[in-house]
Amino acid sequence: MKLDLEIVQFEPKLAKTHENIDLMEKYIKGSKANIIVFPELATSGYFYTDKEELSKVAINAEDEIISQFQSMAEDIDKLIVFGFPEEEDSLFYNSAAILTPDREKSSIYRKSHLFYKESLVFEEGNTGFFVVDYEPLNINIGTMICYDWRFPEAARTLALQGADLIICPSNLVTGVWQGVMQARALENSVYVAVANRIGEESKSFEVLKFNGESTIIDPNGLPLVSAGGNNEISIVASIDPDLTRDKSFNEFNDIFEDRRPELYFSDNEEEE
Ligand code: ACM
Repeated sequence: MKLDLEIVQFEPKLAKTHENIDLMEKYIKGSKANIIVFPELATSGYFYTDKEELSKVAINAEDEIISQFQSMAEDIDKLIVFGFPEEEDSLFYNSAAILTPDREKSSIYRKSHLFYKESLVFEEGNTGFFVVDYEPLNINIGTMICYDWRFPEAARTLALQGADLIICPSNLVTGVWQGVMQARALENSVYVAVANRIGEESKSFEVLKFNGESTIIDPNGLPLVSAGGNNEISIVASIDPDLTRDKSFNEFNDIFEDRRPELYFSDNEEEE
């Protein structure tokens, strides 16, 4: 079954939660896609170095804001994925909500690998990598966030759990990820959707520039659609989860069955 996947690339405004959410709602209400994805920390903006400041925009999973998005997912029968600063027990996580029309399946992923000054305010994610199996659309969705892309284990772990699509809400500040994410799609034979943001944020005279170029990549590693580097835009591609299920590419080779895990370096085994 084919379905439409949409990425909204925009410039979240620092500490302007309601402004950001209004814009996200506008895109959700106007969307015809089955799945709509927003960047990392879409509700809050990115550059926080002070927990007190972050606490003002942090959202608990039980907060009204999350239930509003959950209700939207149910009312318009759409999966909604977006990054937000999560608060739980006075700790903060760089999280992504994966909200499905079936609230039992809705989940929160907490970013595993923290980038740069994120470690000043966020805890390392403790959810691990997991896949949401959403049967009405026959799709298995795995999520990682931005800097997780530098760790091939993240995509591999999700693919081995059965992900057809890896969604990567991002606030990327380099331009070196494109080829890598194409490789992650090809070597796992999955779709990859990188939802990046645009714009700049500064803190104490340090400026971070976010590079856009959000992309949806097919299981052969080819970009289906890409956004520009500095424009607000929504991009859509038609994807077919069935195309990710057969990992063979000729009558002799299957990229999962051909794996030789016994030969691969394992951090865990080394510690034993
Ligand atoms: C990043 O992890 N926001 C680069």
